[in-house]
Amino acid sequence: MAKILLTGGAGYIGSHTYAALTEAGYAVEILDNFANARDDVPDRLEMITGAPVKVHRVDVLDRAALDAVFASTTFDGVVHFAAKKAVGESQKIPLDYIETNCTGLVNLMKAMEKAGVFRLVFSSSATVYAPTLDWPIPEEAALGYASTYALTKLMGEQIIQAAAHADARWRFGILRYFNPAGAHPSALIGEDPSDIPNNLMPYIAKVATGELPELNVFGNDYPTPDGTGVRDYIHVVDLAEGHVQSLNALMKGEGSHIVNLGTGQGYSVLDMLKAYERACGKPLPYRVAPRREGDLACYYGDPAKAEALLGFRAKRDLDDMCATSWAWVSRASNMRG
Ligand code: UFG
Repeated sequence: MAKILLTGGAGYIGSHTYAALTEAGYAVEILDNFANARDDVPDRLEMITGAPVKVHRVDVLDRAALDAVFASTTFDGVVHFAAKKAVGESQKIPLDYIETNCTGLVNLMKAMEKAGVFRLVFSSSATVYAPTLDWPIPEEAALGYASTYALTKLMGEQIIQAAAHADARWRFGILRYFNPAGAHPSALIGEDPSDIPNNLMPYIAKVATGELPELNVFGNDYPTPDGTGVRDYIHVVDLAEGHVQSLNALMKGEGSHIVNLGTGQGYSVLDMLKAYERACGKPLPYRVAPRREGDLACYYGDPAKAEALLGFRAKRDLDDMCATSWAWVSRASNMRG
């Protein structure tokens, strides 16, 4: 059974990837500092998988602790999520973002190199593409960045490619995600921001539970069918399965790859709101607010390369994203604290 270290494995996408990797037959250990993760996630993953969950409570900035983790077990590969991810915050504390996301990655790769582990799946983002009016966005599109968060993801991709250029033993899968949504069908894990959410789906979820009074729709005068912003929402379980397929390719000795993980299908803010209303069975209040600075009208990916290289195709639809999100947030036992 191949052994995998999953950094950031207690987070939103990381925990779903833990479940998917385990289901696919991998033996997975989590490394997380729990800075933005709930302490009860490992227990919940035990309920889902029916087996004990091994957790290393370690920060990727602690190089000595990373070395100790790699000395404790022989890993066959690493899936790396551990990073900071709030775009707005990255503009306020850029050096912290660069330190965690870039220095953390370098620390991890040096520890891997020392331990002779050269398979790496990296959590990147569609935010590495330069703003464009050409959709769907293929992997060959021009790259660029409009936030420090995006810069750190772009730098992360380049750090990995520089290492692989110098040492042919490295095999990497760089996965550029579009907008993750939804939750595990067990309703035991899901997205749970500790603050007021920045992103659309967790915000709508909090309107549905009554924690927030109404959704602010950021602009309804974009050149889109209903005037609101269009994005490529992908079910978090599909996204998790994309990581399994990326890792499978590396385990089979196939080459490194850089792929989009999206659906190729765009939905507007109002499409999402209506779908969530169907899921929770009640109308959700909203008001039209000014456009949010830096937002694009439309942004969705070309998923063809991931299908051709990895056999990846998103299977779950918008209603499934909303139904599983609602099942997760509406269970009282899932509330923080
Ligand atoms: N939106 C609202 N109201 C809200 C929140 C969002 O109307 O309260 C709208 C936005 O204007 C946008 C859409 O909902 O049209 C989606 O916004 P999100 O913040 O959920 O997602 P973004 O596409 O802006 O951001 C995502 C990721 C980032 C990443 C970025 C670019 O969350 O990490 O894509 O790839 F950087």
